[in-house]
Amino acid sequence: MVLTEEEAAMLDGGKGAAVQKAMQILVALGESFGAERLVPVNNVHMAGSSVLVAEEAGTRFVEDIRNQGGKFVTRVTTNPTAVDPTQWREIGIPESDSVLQTRLTNAYAGMGANSCNTCIPYLVGNMPRFGEHMAWGESSAVVFANSVCGARTNREGGPSGLASALTGRTPEYGYHLKQNRYGKFLVKVEAKLRDMTDYGTLGYFTGKIAGQDTPVFTGMPTDPTLEQLKALSAALASSGSVSMFHAVGVTPEASTLQEAFGGGAPQKVLVFGDAEREQAEAALNREPSDHVDWILVGCPNASVQEIREVAEALQGKKVHKDVALWVTTAGAMHAMAERNGYIRTIEEAGGIVVRETCPFLARSRVIAPNKGYKTLTTNSAKMAFYAPGQFGLPTHYGNLDRVMQAAINGVWR
Ligand code: F3S
Repeated sequence: MVLTEEEAAMLDGGKGAAVQKAMQILVALGESFGAERLVPVNNVHMAGSSVLVAEEAGTRFVEDIRNQGGKFVTRVTTNPTAVDPTQWREIGIPESDSVLQTRLTNAYAGMGANSCNTCIPYLVGNMPRFGEHMAWGESSAVVFANSVCGARTNREGGPSGLASALTGRTPEYGYHLKQNRYGKFLVKVEAKLRDMTDYGTLGYFTGKIAGQDTPVFTGMPTDPTLEQLKALSAALASSGSVSMFHAVGVTPEASTLQEAFGGGAPQKVLVFGDAEREQAEAALNREPSDHVDWILVGCPNASVQEIREVAEALQGKKVHKDVALWVTTAGAMHAMAERNGYIRTIEEAGGIVVRETCPFLARSRVIAPNKGYKTLTTNSAKMAFYAPGQFGLPTHYGNLDRVMQAAINGVWR
């Protein structure tokens, strides 16, 4: 790789041990992917911010960097943690995680991170620009940033994100290069996409076939909501390793089919019709009984609009006594929802709005047995995909109406 004078000085230790270590990580990463140079970045979303991922060793690694004088030189936002800062005990998060999480969060904050602790940084002040080079972790946010915003990022892990935050650089390969951003295959959407969950189902269906390839959708409504696009982004990155999609007439690098494919032809053409939607939805419903005990709304983290919809569904009703309803969201969304009265409505009905964590990044393998949860019921394709493997809970999957009926009645219909 060709380095600038400044980058070479960083690598030689001229800017301290923390920056030197960071530059070594970036150069090794770049060389393994055939990058010719580094590109400047001023926007990092840090994936390794939960102690479920970092554990003691990762936490100590981040603390060591801070103790060596590490300072972030870019805007840095953080992904969800393993802990709700105020309700962790009540929802069953182990105290040891709370203690360790405080250390990790403090270490990132001590270097200059904005501890927003959410997978929707684009809704809490870190909105990517079109064409902006970034170093983002969190697969759902990466797909959203590349596809919906037209920003440029690979899917960064904890160490490479940290290294970019310390140096303001990332290796130029993958989605930073225009030639790697074109579509590879076409998905003709013939099914009616009725709600956010249908977008998630489309993402699950497509991701399973995609591997790492970029899909191009035609036939999608031209006015999807932000919530629908985030559901699609998250599901694509779950059943597949997709980092970007195009939707013709919707996303900024796909004003035409030709633009989406860079003038080339699709390698294959698929159809997503009503039959495919029903089959995909059935595949995410892995719990044969109607038993409901743990319900999750907010993967990716809920927007204020989604919190409002949950509050409206619970107006004048009660969550069933045998059901725990979690709505997971960012602290900033929680504050807005609180001001609008949605939190009070949900809490008075018996639900809980969880901040800064989610079942995937909290220690659900401990929480679920301690609380007696045997199933997970959700409107999120991403959560429905991961729950059985990650924390051993079979899922009920359906749209918000169906999920809220289950919350109130205590059975899945
Ligand atoms: Fe976000 Fe957790 Fe889902 S990080 S995308 S709520 S699995």
